[in-house]
Amino acid sequence: MAAPVRIVTVVGNPRPASRTHGLARTLAAEIANVLQGATVGEADLALLGPRVLDQADAGAAAAVGEVLAADVLVVASPTYKATYSGLLKAFLDRLATGSLAGKAAVPLLLGGAPNHQLAVDVHFTPLLLELGAAVPVRGLFVLESDVDGFASFAATWATANGAALARG
Ligand SMILES: Cc1cc2nc3c(=O)[nH]c(=O)nc-3n(C[C@H](O)[C@H](O)[C@H](O)COP(=O)(O)O)c2cc1C
Repeated sequence: MAAPVRIVTVVGNPRPASRTHGLARTLAAEIANVLQGATVGEADLALLGPRVLDQADAGAAAAVGEVLAADVLVVASPTYKATYSGLLKAFLDRLATGSLAGKAAVPLLLGGAPNHQLAVDVHFTPLLLELGAAVPVRGLFVLESDVDGFASFAATWATANGAALARG
């Protein structure tokens, strides 16, 4: 029997318990609903803060381990300066180029400016591809005004895209 799919969220908001964090958890839970037996973990970078820059930090190393053990990654960030947060980039810089090979990733940005919607495809997806992840479906840009409706959107989205993520 195939091993259960491991889904891990990576949340790049420097503030704990953020809306970005909530969106990532919601999406991961909906993907897990679609992929029978899937388990969910997380790397919440708000809990690490500047420690992501410390190569000797055990918590940061554990978060990297969590990411490397995933089959499917939900990588979420607030939109900062039309891209993703510096905290997320600093964390991902710990990973070797190509080290996410064999994993599927879903980039998710939360932002306030509709004119930054393409940031997820133009800036975020290339970062994940550089790390070796497959990005089999388009990334998600969630407007702040759409946060309240995200749970039902995520359920529909996961039904449509869950299988593609499991295939990698
Ligand atoms: C430093 C900073 C830069 C931001 N830059 C952008 C931006 O370029 N485009 C945008 O749509 N929103 C921008 N925002 C708004 C955030 O994306 C938005 O407030 C955030 O996604 C809310 O997520 P949260 O509730 O999880 O913190 C910025 C916010 C901050 C604090």
